[in-house]
Order: sequence, then structure tokens, then C-alpha cells
Amino acid sequence: MRTYFKPKNKLALLYKMKILVTGGTGYIGSHTVVELFNAGHEVVVIDNFDNSYPEVLENIEKITGKKVDFTNVDIRNKQALTDFLMAQKGIDAVIHFAAFKAVGESVENPLKYYENNVGGTVNLLYAMEAAGIHQIAFSSSCTVYGEANPPVDENTPRPAAQSPYGNTKQICEEVLFDYTKASNLKVVSLRYFNPVGAHDSALIGELPIGIPNNLVPFITQTAIGKREVLTVFGNDYPTPDGTCIRDYIHVVDLAKAHVKAIEFLEMKKYTDAYSVFNLGTGQGSSVLEAIHSFEKVTGVKVNYKIGTRRAGDIAQIYANCDKATNELGWKTERDLDNCMLTSWIWEKHLAGK
Ligand code: UD1
Repeated sequence: MRTYFKPKNKLALLYKMKILVTGGTGYIGSHTVVELFNAGHEVVVIDNFDNSYPEVLENIEKITGKKVDFTNVDIRNKQALTDFLMAQKGIDAVIHFAAFKAVGESVENPLKYYENNVGGTVNLLYAMEAAGIHQIAFSSSCTVYGEANPPVDENTPRPAAQSPYGNTKQICEEVLFDYTKASNLKVVSLRYFNPVGAHDSALIGELPIGIPNNLVPFITQTAIGKREVLTVFGNDYPTPDGTCIRDYIHVVDLAKAHVKAIEFLEMKKYTDAYSVFNLGTGQGSSVLEAIHSFEKVTGVKVNYKIGTRRAGDIAQIYANCDKATNELGWKTERDLDNCMLTSWIWEKHLAGK
């Protein structure tokens, strides 16, 4: 039995969906579970806590007041995944986050990445077919564009990937595309730019393990005194201030895009079985602009120094998000300052301050 909503606008889905979220206790997954609940949907979560913690479930419950239907399933275990999906009733769609995401680690241990990110996705598609589930949103990345002239739209050519991690995203997109030709599967691939920020409650956010690779956790950890100094990787790029430019998107905006994408699939607006959307702000910010935004909104100075370039970095990338705006009816609501502020409140929460 469907539960029907009162229509909010002409693009709104009028009933509640039941959505399986793989990797639902991770950084983007947990925020998406919250937004799915906020939109009135039913959510089933699987994860194996490889890069997350069970406390995230309690915190999602605190934020939403909803009990999370959770099962510990490793997507590498095809039989367990299939048994799990076959036992579920009425799942309309899957949002697939479960994946490893550290670029450097993927270079050192590529098989781990291919096994989990590619093998796990293939297992999921088999399990979905067995269970009669035909809609999926896939977590892809702007990394598939490599070095391109920004703003990049979805038709920008994809060069060979720079890392095994990036390659797993490209391969999964191709696996999904090919499978739409041979099945009833409908796919949205969502290419994220640089997700940052944390939930306003400071109950969920990014939990980098060890020394962070990414800029924003490094800024907040330096500001709180966990790291001595932030190194800006190069100020000799062909950009206005010489530092690299990225498109930093707030994780709550990103989470809301997943709700729109999955509802859009459900409303069957597509003529294409396979669609791709860029999810960014459309706004590029340099490393120095990010640091200065942090300092402005928090009043805390960041101890930073200019260092040499990091291997593999591209000078600049930011999104053209017109397709997501026009077709999904989505656009970002938060700016860089809000990204920095919520990241800082989250960092202070982690430090018990
Ligand atoms: C990285 C990944 C990308 C992934 C994204 C997730 C690489 C090559 N790419 O993107 O695949 O989807 O994270 O958010 O790792 N920076 C510093 N000092 C630091 C850390 C970063 O100056 O200590 C600079 C970097 O040179 C870069 C910018 O900050 O210009 C952003 O870096 P980062 O947060 O690591 O993201 P990306 O490299 O864009």
C-alpha cells in the first residue's frame, strides 16, 4: 500500500518511496538518510562500518526522530547481499554509496578498490535483479573529468583516470550504462564535486581516519590544534591567486540532490534509462579563498604555509550544474562560508568543545 503525500509543487512525488541506502552510515550516506526521512520516505540502510561507526545510526535517529532500519551487510559478499535484498519487501530504489574513496590508498592497493567498488557494484546489480528492483542512484565523482576547462558539463569528455579510485568510478558508470541496455534498470549517476560541511546539528559529519587528505578537514584540524600547520599545495598555478580552484558543495545540499534524483527516477520523466548529473555549486573557490572564508566566519586564524604542488592535482575544476537545476529542480542553498562554519562546529563537537 502506497502512502500518499499532499502535493507541494508540480515536480513533487506524491507518495512515499522505500529506498535502500548502501553505505548509509558514511559521510554523504548519513546526510542523505536524514534528507530522505525529512522528505517522508522509508529508508533501509546497509553498511559494514569499514569507514564509519554504529553511533552514526543513533545520531540520525536523534536528528530525525526516526528509527533506522539497519543491517550489517558487506557488498563484497554477493550471497549475503542477495539474501538480504530477496528478504526485503517493496524496495523502490537503491542509492549506492558503499565504496572506498582514498585516492592514495587506491594507488597502493588497487585490488582492494576494484574488489569493493567495482565488484561490490556488480554484486549489487545481480542482487537487485534477483529482487526485482530496477532503479539506482550511483555515487560518481568529478574526478572522471580529469583536467578539463571549467565549467564542466556532463558532456565533457572523460580522459583516462588518474588513479585506481577514479578508474573504479569510470568503470562503474560504464557497467551501469551497459546494464541498462540489457535490463530494465534505470540509473542516475551523480558526479559530485568537492563535498564539505556538516549537518547543522553537528551530530553527523565527515570522520577522516588518521591524517586527512582533503582540504577542509585539514583546515579545521589545524585550527583546533590537532595539526600544527596546513600546507597549501602550490601557489604557482595559472589561477588568479596561484592556488588550485575547486567547487566545494555542502553535504546537505548534496544529500537533497539525491532525494530529487531518486524521486525523478520514480516519476519516470526519463526517456533515457541512463542519466548523469553534475552536483556542484557552479562556483569555483581557491585554496586561499577557502582558508580566508574559514577565518572570516569563525574568527579563528589558520596556521598555513605555502608548499610545493601535490602530485596529481589539477589547477581548476568547477561544475556547470544547469542540467540538475533544469531537470531535477535542484540547486544549492548554501555557500562556502556556511560550508566552513558547519565544518568548524562539527570539528569542535568532535573535540568535545
Ligand atoms: C580529492 C580527490 C577526489 C575526491 C575528492 C573528495 C585527489 C587527487 N582527488 O579531490 O577524487 O572526489 O577529494 O572530496 O585526491 N589542498 C591543500 N592542502 C591540503 C589538502 C588539500 O592545499 O592539505 C588543496 C589541494 O591541492 C586541492 C584542494 O586543496 O587544490 C582540494 O583538495 P582535496 O580536498 O584533497 O580535494 P581534491 O584533490 O579536489
